[in-house]
Amino acid sequence: MENFTYYSPTRFLFGRGKEQDTGRCIGDFGGKKVLLHYGGGSVVESGLLERVRESIKAEGIECVELGGVKPNPRSGLVYEGIELCRREKIDFILALGGGSVIDSAKAIAAGAMYEGDFWDFYSGKSVVEKAIPLGTVLTIAAAGSESSSASVISLETGEGMVKRSTMSDALRPKFSIMNPELTFTLPPYQTASGIVDMMAHVMERYFTNTRGVGVTDRLCEGTMISIIEEAPKVMENPRDYEARANIMWAGTMAHNNICGVGRQQDWASHGLEHELSALYDCAHGAGLSVIFPAWMEHVMSHDVMRFAQFANRIFGCEMDFENPEVTAKRGIESLKSFWKSIGMPISFEEIGAKSEDIPLLLDMLDLENRNLGVFVELTREDCEAIYRIAS
Ligand code: NZQ
Ligand code: ZN
Repeated sequence: MENFTYYSPTRFLFGRGKEQDTGRCIGDFGGKKVLLHYGGGSVVESGLLERVRESIKAEGIECVELGGVKPNPRSGLVYEGIELCRREKIDFILALGGGSVIDSAKAIAAGAMYEGDFWDFYSGKSVVEKAIPLGTVLTIAAAGSESSSASVISLETGEGMVKRSTMSDALRPKFSIMNPELTFTLPPYQTASGIVDMMAHVMERYFTNTRGVGVTDRLCEGTMISIIEEAPKVMENPRDYEARANIMWAGTMAHNNICGVGRQQDWASHGLEHELSALYDCAHGAGLSVIFPAWMEHVMSHDVMRFAQFANRIFGCEMDFENPEVTAKRGIESLKSFWKSIGMPISFEEIGAKSEDIPLLLDMLDLENRNLGVFVELTREDCEAIYRIAS
């Protein structure tokens, strides 16, 4: 196991009706004038926006609003939010929504406290050292941004989008309010995309070269098995509170790094996927559903026993010690069947991606300026092979 520092300062308020405590929580963290940031309308339709407004007003806290965050959040609205925060002297940001809204809020929070262009944090030119404090009311179990240090933004350029991430402890939410009932209204495709994303967050940590990490291996396995058990229940009955609650907490466990400490992590599949959602504007989870099994197939020979272990412990595939690659391959097939069973894609075609675009996707990866993958460091040829398997 490697040395590590674990820092997860977010206060979680979990359960029915917890959004009523929003105003009080903002007050606890010193907020006097809050930017309420949200997406395209689901929070208006569900009445959540109105309930949260009232809870904020009840505490005598002023409120300014900025809606309109799109999935795969864009730089344009971030610039707008930064200006708004400066003009209105905002001292707290509340994100009301999913990963896209939270990530947009994080970018605004950091950008408003920085003299340069906020994109510097995403291009690698600068690191986030300070940010306006922020909190979240989560409406979708997926990205794990409610407790993560990361933010992912798409820069709008004249020639399309460039999707990049940044990480900093300064971006971790002060609090996250998680009421599973708020996820009852999710369309099945968004529910399933979220399930794939959280599984992928665990898997990016599970496939590691670090030895002696039995506790985190088992935490990863328990989280994945629980997700696989709960997934069919939420797909069948979107109003199953207990299943929604388990899926919601799994999404947080998958990405607050409790499963990832002391071990190398990979993140190549996420890097490969971000180019798909940048080019085709597909759901992040749908892109991962296509990429992850292809990545597994390509890198399996690097540590076939780890893939066989995954197959055996997660999907109960019988271990063939003489031919562990047979077991490993069964695990990949089982994963694909699971994705399919919840309506997720496993090929380029299903997300509108085209094999002719592979050279463009490879250029977009910008491998001259960054590394991709730790379990196996990927060359351009490796990335091409993975995209070809997926196509
Ligand atoms: O905009 P509204 O109307 O709210 O609709 C949203 C959106 O269309 C809808 N939705 C959310 N909650 C709902 C709901 N519809 C009905 N009822 C509800 N309760 O769902 C759609 C997708 O929302 P989005 O926020 O985009 O989903 P998700 O949480 O999956 O976030 C995806 C983004 O997070 C990034 C991804 O790359 C992507 O941009 N990620 C962020 C990470 C992080 N910050 O740590 C890590 C992840 O790996 C990921 O890369
Ligand atoms: Zn993800």
